[in-house]
Amino acid sequence: MAAELPTVRWGIIATGLISSWFVKDLMVERTDKRANHIIKAVGSSSQQKGTEFVQKHLSAASPIPVIYGSYEEVYNDPNVDVVYIGTPHAFHKQNCLDAIKHGKHVLCEKAFTINSAEAREVFEAAKEKGVFVMEAMWTRFFPLTRKLLTLLHSEKVIGDVRRVFCDFAMDQKIASLGPESRLKNPALGAGSLLDIGIYSLTWALLCLDTGLGEQAEKPKIAAMQTLIDEIDTTSSALLLYPGRQGVVTCSTLVKGRSPFCRIEGSEGSIEIEGFTSCPQAFTIHKGDNDTKKYEFEKPGMGFFWEADAVALDITAGKTQDNIMPWSETVRVLEIMDEIRRQGGAKFPQDAA
Ligand SMILES: NC(=O)c1ccc[n+]([C@@H]2O[C@H](COP(=O)([O-])OP(=O)(O)OC[C@H]3O[C@@H](n4cnc5c(N)ncnc54)[C@H](OP(=O)(O)O)[C@@H]3O)[C@@H](O)[C@H]2O)c1
Repeated sequence: MAAELPTVRWGIIATGLISSWFVKDLMVERTDKRANHIIKAVGSSSQQKGTEFVQKHLSAASPIPVIYGSYEEVYNDPNVDVVYIGTPHAFHKQNCLDAIKHGKHVLCEKAFTINSAEAREVFEAAKEKGVFVMEAMWTRFFPLTRKLLTLLHSEKVIGDVRRVFCDFAMDQKIASLGPESRLKNPALGAGSLLDIGIYSLTWALLCLDTGLGEQAEKPKIAAMQTLIDEIDTTSSALLLYPGRQGVVTCSTLVKGRSPFCRIEGSEGSIEIEGFTSCPQAFTIHKGDNDTKKYEFEKPGMGFFWEADAVALDITAGKTQDNIMPWSETVRVLEIMDEIRRQGGAKFPQDAA
């Protein structure tokens, strides 16, 4: 069966936290897998970091990936089909452009870039080169998310959606971090909105509107941010659509609670539990004695679902994914640009 599935060969760029989660998930044995994933190469700022990463997270990989002390060598490796980018957001644009220049397909972590102008530049380059590129907004690919959206929009299980509240809050102990941290340094893209608020915004957009990218309605936006040492530590935005509203919040100063999202409709409501990035269950409430809970098993964290989508798209010769097309990444970044314009968070890249 595995032999009949498409196979893609990955090159991993950077050896931080998210890269470790991603590679571990690619190795997970699971029954629903739709592609074979081979990690061919790992590129790091240093050979030693790369070696430690492979020893710690990929000792069970077969074959053991090649370790490079630079990203460039991964882009040049003819055995790599697709590059996974797990650097801080401030480097995503350049990492993507470099990988694309070498004809590699790309899966790049969220936030895809610092602002929408940077994202357009990357997609323009991908279009010219004819390669596949996708923002790694993994949450959209969870079976839970797909089921919820079908119930919400196709089956209209709670009637017409009127309001969505969504929050992502975690105490990141920002004050105790040094300037080398991507959570502290504006030059690395620090701030609550791009790091975690992007998930609250994603849920609100998905639940309030069936369209993606250019097909989506444009909400009016009212936003505020709390800045400490020039980085946004709390961001709140109201999205106004005709007849419906979204309340989108995030904070890096306090720990949030589950359920993290409530969707209210003309005939009931839905609460989503787990982490805003990594949902676990949702419950439909249609009356005091009419509730139904949907729970979803996961053999790992859930990064394999986006990885499968990438593999299938590349095998099919596509340059964009239907769930996370380029114009959707640009739309989310445009809304975050506007939230930051109103709220005050700025990055050096905005001036470029
Ligand atoms: N999808 C999710 O749930 C999720 C979760 C966490 C983070 N993320 C995203 O993933 C990206 C990385 O986050 P992370 O938490 O993994 O960060 P991290 O732990 O700080 O790792 C970032 C890695 O990027 C490389 N890097 C290159 N230049 C760097 C520089 N000047 N400063 C720091 N690191 C540099 C380093 O790897 P080398 O030295 O090996 O090159 C470093 O280990 C961010 O865009 C973030 O939003 C996504």
